[in-house]
Amino acid sequence: MKATVKAPANIAFIKYWGKRDEKLRLPANGSVSMNLSGVFSTTSVEFDEKLKNDTVKIDGKYSKDREKLRVIKHLDRIRKMALLKMKARVESDNNFPKGTGIASSASGFAALTLAASKSAGLSLPEKELSILARIGSGSACRSIPDGFVEWKKGTSSKSSYAHSIFPHGYWDICNVIAVVGSIKKEISSTKGHSLVGSSPFFKPRMAGMRKKVLEIKKAISNKDFTKFGEITEREAINMHAVMMTSSPPLYYWTPDTVGLIIFVRNCRKIGLECYFTMDAGPNVHIICREKDSKRIESRLRKISGVERVIVNKTEAGARIVG
Ligand code: DP6
Repeated sequence: MKATVKAPANIAFIKYWGKRDEKLRLPANGSVSMNLSGVFSTTSVEFDEKLKNDTVKIDGKYSKDREKLRVIKHLDRIRKMALLKMKARVESDNNFPKGTGIASSASGFAALTLAASKSAGLSLPEKELSILARIGSGSACRSIPDGFVEWKKGTSSKSSYAHSIFPHGYWDICNVIAVVGSIKKEISSTKGHSLVGSSPFFKPRMAGMRKKVLEIKKAISNKDFTKFGEITEREAINMHAVMMTSSPPLYYWTPDTVGLIIFVRNCRKIGLECYFTMDAGPNVHIICREKDSKRIESRLRKISGVERVIVNKTEAGARIVG
């Protein structure tokens, strides 16, 4: 049976950076995110007894090497659970062009997990799907549940999963992504996670994580936008401080990134309240309220260096569409 799934990418307000178990992708800390309405993967999986090998096509091109191997490993996990030997045909499309620096592993592995398990005849509860997606790519576990999501650090693989803390539409928050030209990553984010221990700022960062998770959940619950934005910005800088002080150092920012940080601060000065966050790349995610998103979008479009602007609302998690 063929199953097709649509899964959103997500943006973390409290970040996942550092693992306490690399193989199981158990995070060093809990994190909090929201699903994005404008950036998603649509993935079809079909187990077929006629196939001799797994085939993996991403954005119209057959994958090779490491990318393909990572998908096959994930299929193997599902085959093991379903006691299945058949090979599968996987086709995945991202609605955002590759090379824009927007991570596709979260939406990609969330979609693959649900599509492959459904196609294998499994009907897994959300918690199990989230755990399975996490083993494929950590942040993918947060693209399984709806809306605003918390990924619990947990004490073992069974207790480290993501769950919805507020549904999509609970709060009219937007994430306006300013896509800027990227420098080719020398070190993947998967490798980057393993370098955290070499930063002198990692230990102090960890000491404050539990409190930060509680504080941001409270700010979302109270719809306190100022508090929410301040925590989000401080957290992004905190994570990048660890990245930049790792050995070797990871510099994901470009001059455009810094320009956009200044842009956000200037917006606030004129009463346009918004806040920034960044992942392992140069793009800037601007968090604002829906009423301000149009003004921010049109201002961003005038900035040279901004190649693309993507406006996102909160979104449901991974779902079967065919
Ligand atoms: C900076 O989920 O891509 O976006 O588990 O190795 O696949 P792997 O890492 P990944 O890491 C994402 C890190 C981040 C922060 C975040 O999304 O929380």
